[in-house]
Amino acid sequence: MKQNKRILLVFGTRPEAIKMCPLVKELKGIDGFDVKVCLTGQHKEMLYSVTKHFEVFADYDLGIMRSGQGLFEITERITKGMRSLLMNLSPDIVLVHGDTTTAFATALACFYMKIPVGHVEAGLRTYDAQSPYPEEFNRRAISVIAKYHFAPTYRAKENLLSEGIKESSVFITGNTGIDALFTTVRDDYRSDLLDELSGKRVILITAHRRENLGEPMRNMFKAIKRVISEHPDTAAVYPIHLNPEVRRIADDILKDEERIRIIEPLDVFDFHNLMARSYLILTDSGGIQEEAPSLGVPVIVMRETTERPEGISAGTLKLAGVSEDGIYDSFTRLLNSDEEYSKMAKAQNPYGDGNASRRIADILKREFTD
Ligand code: UD1
Ligand code: UDP
Repeated sequence: MKQNKRILLVFGTRPEAIKMCPLVKELKGIDGFDVKVCLTGQHKEMLYSVTKHFEVFADYDLGIMRSGQGLFEITERITKGMRSLLMNLSPDIVLVHGDTTTAFATALACFYMKIPVGHVEAGLRTYDAQSPYPEEFNRRAISVIAKYHFAPTYRAKENLLSEGIKESSVFITGNTGIDALFTTVRDDYRSDLLDELSGKRVILITAHRRENLGEPMRNMFKAIKRVISEHPDTAAVYPIHLNPEVRRIADDILKDEERIRIIEPLDVFDFHNLMARSYLILTDSGGIQEEAPSLGVPVIVMRETTERPEGISAGTLKLAGVSEDGIYDSFTRLLNSDEEYSKMAKAQNPYGDGNASRRIADILKREFTD
């Protein structure tokens, strides 16, 4: 009798969970696969709210999160935790996602144990190892280790090929984040928050990147506060990241502006629906740069670089940098110019059609069971 192939999916932060849960569900539907999920627990509340929403339950949880954790601790706890798990489980393949330290440390553990890795969301690049930090290094290091590269776009595939990755190991699949988005956004969604803000242009804010902690984040918040105070028909909602350093800066600069609401992180269902109803988004997030083009909501990217140039080409994203004046100018222009705004507010789908997980599952099925 043929043995089931053992597939282990490992993830640990909110964005990885949002983009891996659709794939877990797809793989679980395939005969001949024994699918297991390991959470590293790099995030806690922000991770479990996603797995709960998608009803994906972990077989293993390394539970590594500590408040204010550093890269050394995350890397050490995950590599050691994965060593024991991989020894016990001997998976045929391990799937990791994107660019977090969870993904990098897991891939490294697999490399040490000679276990094949499949990289979901492969090939994104800025070619600046300091930005985003440490994600650009993480994703490039994973590309060196991975056997299968699931690239969301043609451009991501081209990046991989230009680095000498074998074409036969690279597959263009779309981004699984769009699969998730297609299941959450509802026409009939309503919320007390949106009711309270009715009549205002809702500006959605998120910010968390490690390289932005400190002066760049202070600049972002100062610019946002100036613009919101100058436009009484706007209200900003900021579902804050749980990093205590982010909260400290946000409290320091934004707290006394009446039309800026700092709220707890939103459940993915509420967040996607709030995005869909926002007038404009300001963010340093990666995933939001992929989701917003599908929803036709313009985004001001508060970063110096982006590994998601497809959204810039599609016209939905504007890279504003991290200076106070740069963000102030871009934000003000978009609020004051209907022409500029409507040029950006066009629904585009550069990141896929919602079937990325099915494509990845089909590829794995072909590779492992046919
Ligand atoms: C991590 C990823 C980043 C990704 C981001 C998504 C790394 C190095 N960084 O960054 O690529 O964009 O997740 O959000 O992999 N915290 C909680 N509860 C939570 C989550 C976080 O309290 O559920 C707090 C903790 O104090 C924690 C801190 O946030 O120490 C930072 O979390 P960490 O995972 O180290 O970094 P992120 O900035 O979230
Ligand atoms: N998100 C969410 N709740 C929030 C803020 C963001 O569910 O309060 C979702 C968002 O839709 C996207 C993902 O989280 O899918 C982005 O996560 P984050 O910005 O933390 O990480 P990044 O994408 O930058 O790695």
